[in-house]
Amino acid sequence: MAKICLCLTAKTIKRNLEILEKYRKFTDLAELRVDCLDPDERLSIRRFPELAGLPVILTIRRDVDGGYFTGGEGARVKLLASGLAYANADSRYNFAYVDIEEDFDVPSLEEAARTFGTRIIRSCHNLNGDIDDIPAKIRSMKRTGDEIVKVAMAVNTTGDVLRVLKASKEKEFKDRDKILLCMGHYGIYSRILSEKFSSFLSYSCALSENEVPGAPGQIDVQELAELYHFRKVTKKTKVYGVVGNPLKATVGPWFFNTVFNLENKDAVYAPFPTTSIEDLFDLADELDVQGLSITVPFKEMVLSRLAKSSSEVQSIGACNTLYRCDEGWYGGNTDCTGFSDSLLKFIDKKNLKKQKVTIIGAGGAARAVAAEIFRLGGKALILNRTVLKAKNLALQYNFLWGGLDSHGIEALSKYSNIIIQTSSVGMDGYEAADPLEHYSFTGKEVVMDLIYSPDVTPFLKKAEAAGCRILNGFDMVIRQACLQYACFFGKEIPQQLLSRINTPGANTWNLIRTG
Ligand code: ATR
Repeated sequence: MAKICLCLTAKTIKRNLEILEKYRKFTDLAELRVDCLDPDERLSIRRFPELAGLPVILTIRRDVDGGYFTGGEGARVKLLASGLAYANADSRYNFAYVDIEEDFDVPSLEEAARTFGTRIIRSCHNLNGDIDDIPAKIRSMKRTGDEIVKVAMAVNTTGDVLRVLKASKEKEFKDRDKILLCMGHYGIYSRILSEKFSSFLSYSCALSENEVPGAPGQIDVQELAELYHFRKVTKKTKVYGVVGNPLKATVGPWFFNTVFNLENKDAVYAPFPTTSIEDLFDLADELDVQGLSITVPFKEMVLSRLAKSSSEVQSIGACNTLYRCDEGWYGGNTDCTGFSDSLLKFIDKKNLKKQKVTIIGAGGAARAVAAEIFRLGGKALILNRTVLKAKNLALQYNFLWGGLDSHGIEALSKYSNIIIQTSSVGMDGYEAADPLEHYSFTGKEVVMDLIYSPDVTPFLKKAEAAGCRILNGFDMVIRQACLQYACFFGKEIPQQLLSRINTPGANTWNLIRTG
């Protein structure tokens, strides 16, 4: 099983030991990043394995490889040697592993390490994401039978991750311990699904302690162990996830993994930030992903890949839920009911008859909102940055349309019982802005913003200050996630589970936190 390695990047040995103590139960082995230590502290690394009381990797990462060591190679060799010197016959007192780069060529040091049971991790840190032939790279790095080959590649695209995943499946490396990981935001799931990437370990860090991450994209150690139940993820574990870009905030991982943990279900739900929906479909096949939540900006782009779809998806042209059927992917839309259930409960009504509603935005989410307002008997005005998109959507339901300008604002004044903000403006990961900067609320409008991260967007803040009743998208997102659960598993989410997780403040869990 893949192990969790806690990357220790504090400036002092004492602080590293404190962090290790605090997160010991989530840690299988630790990596002492000597390059992060203050120069004086580097002199006392030899006793670290004994003080740590678990297997430790000795690493002195050079700046050219993304580390902090700027001294010359001679100084680094000396430091490595001091960490491995005076080896103890009891291997628990020695470093269990030493990480040396592929171009490191000091055979005597390697030999000394090996003699006393210190295993070599031979590493390559590719910060440009430009290794064309990853299997060839692994092959070229192998020198002995017992070393662990490590390829850490910075990924800029989903295609890069796919190449790493495919390399991990090569038969010739099947029985070898290796570390394969994708650095950066677009590779975050390679750190959660290490077992699926056939990686010996996953590096994590103590993000909640404000320590510097050992490499871009590392996940907090507690989050990895508890939320993503890393140690329970085997090759057989069913994979689900959420697809979006930039995907900086989503409640999906928190919601589904909490449910899976409570149910003891052999499943994991990962964030899949992606640059290309086409590559993501290939990756989902490689990983045998069973179900996906789809978010900005892919709700319309996935339509062409659906083998079958629900009537909502066909009528509104947006899909937020994918799951497997015999013919391929089945597309559903849980935004519709999630939205209307949430709004109707908030205004304590059964329908929207006699309600005049303004919808801001005309993307995938707005399509679901417009369809529901129409179904519930409301009349609407759609305002969007791209007026043509507002027009096309409005014409489907005999609604009015306009732009986010003075004419739009004038029209809005007659359609202001309820205002629904569906655009991505104000969302975490985007500019903190107000899509209708020049509109002044009267205080009588009911205002809903589908965004839930941040809790209160600038738009909602303005509405609240004017005395409006406001609702963010958290209740809606939980409702639509419950419906997604039903799509994924063919049964309703057990109510007693829901009451255990749907608590106030739960939405503080919505950020995809990576270093
Ligand atoms: P979703 O699936 O969440 O609806 P989407 O389909 O990408 O995402 O739609 C995003 C919506 O936010 C669109 O209405 C978009 O306006 P355009 O149709 O003009 O692109 C709107 N949007 C995004 N950025 C915006 C910005 N900076 N100002 C105003 N509207 C914006």
